[in-house]
Amino acid sequence: MTIATGARVEARRFSYRHGSRRDPALSDVSFRIEPGERVLLTGDSGSGKSTLLAALAGVLDDDGEPSGSLLVDADSTGLVLQDPDAQTVASRIGDDVAFGCENLGVPREEIWPRVEAALEMVGLDLPLDHPTRHLSGGQKQRLALAGVIAMGARLILLDEPTANLDPRGQRDVIDAVDNVVRRTGATLIVVEHRHELWTPLVDRVLQVSDGHVREIAAADLDVEVVLPERRHVSGSALVAARDLLTQWGSPRSFSIPEGASTVITGANGAGKSTLALTIGGLIPPRRGQLELSGHLRSGLQKSVHTWKSADLARRIGTVFQDPEHQFVSRSVREELEVGPRIMGIGASERIEELLDRLRLRHLQQANPFTLSGGEKRRLSVATALVAAPALLILDEPTFGQDPSTFRELVWLLRELSDSGTTIISVTHDPDFIRALGDHHLELT
Ligand SMILES: Nc1ncnc2c1ncn2[C@@H]1O[C@H](COP(=O)(O)OP(=O)(O)OP(=O)(O)O)[C@@H](O)[C@H]1O
Ligand SMILES: [Mg+2]
Repeated sequence: MTIATGARVEARRFSYRHGSRRDPALSDVSFRIEPGERVLLTGDSGSGKSTLLAALAGVLDDDGEPSGSLLVDADSTGLVLQDPDAQTVASRIGDDVAFGCENLGVPREEIWPRVEAALEMVGLDLPLDHPTRHLSGGQKQRLALAGVIAMGARLILLDEPTANLDPRGQRDVIDAVDNVVRRTGATLIVVEHRHELWTPLVDRVLQVSDGHVREIAAADLDVEVVLPERRHVSGSALVAARDLLTQWGSPRSFSIPEGASTVITGANGAGKSTLALTIGGLIPPRRGQLELSGHLRSGLQKSVHTWKSADLARRIGTVFQDPEHQFVSRSVREELEVGPRIMGIGASERIEELLDRLRLRHLQQANPFTLSGGEKRRLSVATALVAAPALLILDEPTFGQDPSTFRELVWLLRELSDSGTTIISVTHDPDFIRALGDHHLELT
């Protein structure tokens, strides 16, 4: 499958305002991308990167307000979304890759050769009837990429394709993208905060800031981030597990120190999220013992799974891997107020502090579901912190954060832990582990 040439892209004073917002996300943006160029698109969380990709793919919401012009000289663009799970459409991998071709009306006899060639190009060497739900995060990203190649996309748009992957998965995705752009000649625009992964592959870097887009040198991307250092663990155990069996993996015995920060690492699919949710009392273990110290229980039963939800919420704060599952309110401010109200605790000072520290103040009236990827993540962290729980469990807390927000979040967690909160984080991030891995639990 060879594609004649990549798409040319040209923005001329392009602006776009989301329907529910007062200020435009992009204003007067002008740039040119030549056929076959590989571009890294960077910029702070909420700066407008995903909005720009949606504009290029022609999938902006109808209720928004565009102006100026944005030209893409291709009849097919392929957008791979920020959320790796949201884009798997079929239950078998072959059907999933074929889906886009079927929508485009590609003749049936052409579809299957295209599907097989695309899967080969992204290195997914699996039978066509392999279940999509058995794929790891990195395999899902490569599957989505195969879908857009099969459609013959001449412009490939990738929104944080490596953000949520373990190092092996990241490597595989980058190799797949490299192979695809070399063999198809397609133009590539990739959004990624961990730019060091992608700079070897790209020709140019465009940065979105304050609604504008400008060209920068790859060397200018290296901002030094000063982070705290991990602490020496001294406290006793807050959580003790003996032969604990969750939905995934083998029985595990471990303890988690009180008043310190523990990181849980392990490859995609090792069962980290399941373990975190089990410790947090949100899913019952299959077998074995899981005990929380008397200090945290204050009179409640040993097994966290027997607690009432209000008792749980007052003691344990949890941030899920997918923040959308957590939102219940119509505005960012209400989302922060609802927990304390239900628990009957005052938290107004804390809410003000969190709005500032997590850069959410300008969004306090916004609907949580309209936030950018990184903004959603920060809101879910803020809602877990607002009740000042003694135990805080976070699943990929820094996923999708730009360097300055990453630093702010890491320092905030460090301060919380230094002042006595026990923190458990599931993470892949080496900088996060260096700063907050007082205790390290590696799942195999
Ligand atoms: N559907 C929407 N409705 C209203 N506002 C939106 C919508 N999607 C995004 N926004 C807002 O537009 C701005 C740009 O969002 P966008 O998702 O493009 O940012 P981003 O640079 O991709 O951020 P991140 O790195 O966090 O993913 C943000 O202020 C965001 O809150
Ligand atoms: Mg985004």
